Amino acid sequence: MKIPFNKPLVLGSEIEYLKQEIEKDRFSEKGEFTSKCAELIEKETSCNKVIMTPSCTSALEMCALLCSIKPGDEVIMPSFTHPGTANPFVRTGAEIVWCDIKEDTKNIDEDKIRPLITKRTKAVVAVHYGGVICRMDKIASICKKNNLFLIEDAAMSFGSRFKDKPAGSFGDLAVISFHKTKNVQCGEGGALLINKMKMIERAEFLRDYGTNRIHFEKSLIEKYTWIEKSSNFSMSELQAAYLYPQLLELNRIKENRLQTWKLYYKLLSEFLPVKCLSYIPKEVKHNAHLFYIMLESEKQRKMLIEHLNSAGIHAFFHYIPLHSAPIWKGKYDDINLPVTDKVSDTLLRLPMFYSLTIQEVDFTCFKILEFYKKLS
Ligand SMILES: Cc1ncc(COP(=O)(O)O)c(C=O)c1O
Repeated sequence: MKIPFNKPLVLGSEIEYLKQEIEKDRFSEKGEFTSKCAELIEKETSCNKVIMTPSCTSALEMCALLCSIKPGDEVIMPSFTHPGTANPFVRTGAEIVWCDIKEDTKNIDEDKIRPLITKRTKAVVAVHYGGVICRMDKIASICKKNNLFLIEDAAMSFGSRFKDKPAGSFGDLAVISFHKTKNVQCGEGGALLINKMKMIERAEFLRDYGTNRIHFEKSLIEKYTWIEKSSNFSMSELQAAYLYPQLLELNRIKENRLQTWKLYYKLLSEFLPVKCLSYIPKEVKHNAHLFYIMLESEKQRKMLIEHLNSAGIHAFFHYIPLHSAPIWKGKYDDINLPVTDKVSDTLLRLPMFYSLTIQEVDFTCFKILEFYKKLS
C-alpha cells in the first residue's frame, strides 16, 4: 500500500468551470468567478470585504502595506510557522519579535504576548495552527488595549470556528491559503479578509498595482493613475474558476476530513496517551486540516518516519523554527522558545486528505502500533 501525505483536492467538476472561462475568453483578474469566490468567503467568514490574491503570502504582503509597517517597527508572531508568515513583514525592514507557542494547541501563547510589547510594536500576527484557532478573545483584547493591528494567519484554517465565530472574523485583517496542500485549493491562491472598513478602498488600490483603477472601473474618474508603491495582487480568473466548485462544497469536504480525523483519534487513543495526539480546545470547531502525534524525541520521530516510509506511508515533521533559520546567521541565538523547539523536534504529521480511506487510516495506525511495540 502507498499512502501519500497529501493529495491535492480534485472534485471533478472544476474542469467544467475552467471550460466556461476559456470559452468566454476570461483569463486574468476580477472576473465572474473571482467575485463569486470572494462572495462565498465573505459569507463563510462574515468579514466585510474579501480580495482574492495569487497566494496567502501575497495577501500577507498586502497586510504589511495596509498596516504601513516600516523599518523600526516591531511585529510579534510565533516562530513556529511558515516563512510565508514572516517574509512580508521582514521585507518592510521591521523587526520580528518571536513569541513562544502553547504546548497543547501549538498556537501563539497569549500569555507571553504582553511582555513582548514595546513602544515600537505595531502588530500581532496570530497563526491558527493546523485549523485550530488561537485564543482570539484574549489576543484581540491585548491588541485593542495596546492599539496594535491584529492579523490572523488563517492559511490552514478556512472553515474553522472559535466560540462560534469563524476564522478570519477576529483580526483587523486575515489571510487564507488555497495552496494545493490546503483543504480547498487551486494550486496556488489566497485571500485577504478585511474587517476594518477604512482599509477597504486602499486595499483595492494596492491590489491594482497601487493605482486608482477601481475608481476608473466605476466611472468615477476619466483616467486611472499610479498613486502608491505596490504590486499586482490579483488572483487569476483561472485559479478562481478551479476554486469555486470546491468552495461550494466546503462543508462536505470538511465533514469527510473530520471523519478521517476522528478515526485517527479513536484508533491511536487505544494505545497512545491523549496528550500525544492532536488537541482541539472545547471552544474550537476545527476543519480537520491535519492530524499529528507527538513523539518523545527527535530521534524517536526519525525512527518512526523511517518505519512508516518502509511501509509506503509518508509522514512529515513541521516547521523548523523561523528564529533559528540560517537567514538570521545566529541573530536570535539568545532567544529562548522552549515549547517551539520541543514541538518542532517531536511533532509528526500523518497522511491527511479528502477521501483518505478507512483502510489507509487503519493501516497507518497499525504501523504506528507496531513501532511502539517494537520500542517496548
Ligand atoms: C501558516 C502559513 N502561513 C502562510 C503560508 C503561505 O501560504 P501560500 O503558500 O499560499 O503563500 C503557509 C503555507 O502553507 C502557512 O502554513
